[in-house]
Amino acid sequence: MSDKLPSHCNDQPHSHDIASVNEQHYDLQAEAFDEYPGYEEISRVIGQAMLSKYPDIFDKECTHILDYACGTGLLSRQLWPHARSVIGVDISKGAVDRYNLRVINEGADPSKIRAIRAELKGEESELHGVKVDAVVCASAYHHFTSIDDMTRILVSFLKHGGSLLVADIMKNDQGEEVVPSDYYHDVPHTAGFSEEDMRQIFTRAGLKNFDFNRVTTANLEGTDATFFLARGVKRHA
Ligand SMILES: C[S@@+](CC[C@H](N)C(=O)[O-])C[C@H]1O[C@@H](n2cnc3c(N)ncnc32)[C@H](O)[C@@H]1O
Repeated sequence: MSDKLPSHCNDQPHSHDIASVNEQHYDLQAEAFDEYPGYEEISRVIGQAMLSKYPDIFDKECTHILDYACGTGLLSRQLWPHARSVIGVDISKGAVDRYNLRVINEGADPSKIRAIRAELKGEESELHGVKVDAVVCASAYHHFTSIDDMTRILVSFLKHGGSLLVADIMKNDQGEEVVPSDYYHDVPHTAGFSEEDMRQIFTRAGLKNFDFNRVTTANLEGTDATFFLARGVKRHA
């Protein structure tokens, strides 16, 4: 495997290889991830942006949420008080175990909030056929090999009229690599995504009402990175 995978590279490893590298990396790093400087704040700001920009989505009496690539729950915990249920899904067992420990430690109800280890493929039987009001996915799109495939898979878990919210690193004007080089082995999209990239990805997945906002800027080990939040809505049948 190449050490360095520029975002435009056509010779990327098979998606399963990238997923396995991510699984191993986050299994080992789950604890350290919570202590990564500034990361808790990035997740907090992204969660608060979801709540303040799209209040129509969140209702603690009836909103069911899927948090894909949920990690240790740093984003999810912002949404727990505003949802009827949250299911976190992540490829890393280490991350999922810390997520479920966080649920207990922070006094949330484990019958409504829990995480499972899985890599979703979009099959009917997955998650027992559950359909949710919102799928959220933060700081993980740059880890996925096929963004189009993953977006279609996430949309397949939405009810009609439900929303996909994706937060990730924004491509800068020069399209330079923003992700620190230490992470190139598990990150195929090292330059992040532009607003136009996201609009096209969401449109190809059949989403409507595209919306896009810059939410925060953070220093990722020496490089300033802007994080965006994009929303798309699944059409009614
Ligand atoms: C930077 S962390 C973000 C965690 C969380 N969303 C947050 O905002 O705190 C990226 C997460 O993506 C997960 N991940 C990477 N590739 C994945 C895949 N193919 N399927 C599911 N999870 C994946 C990793 O295990 C890791 O927990």
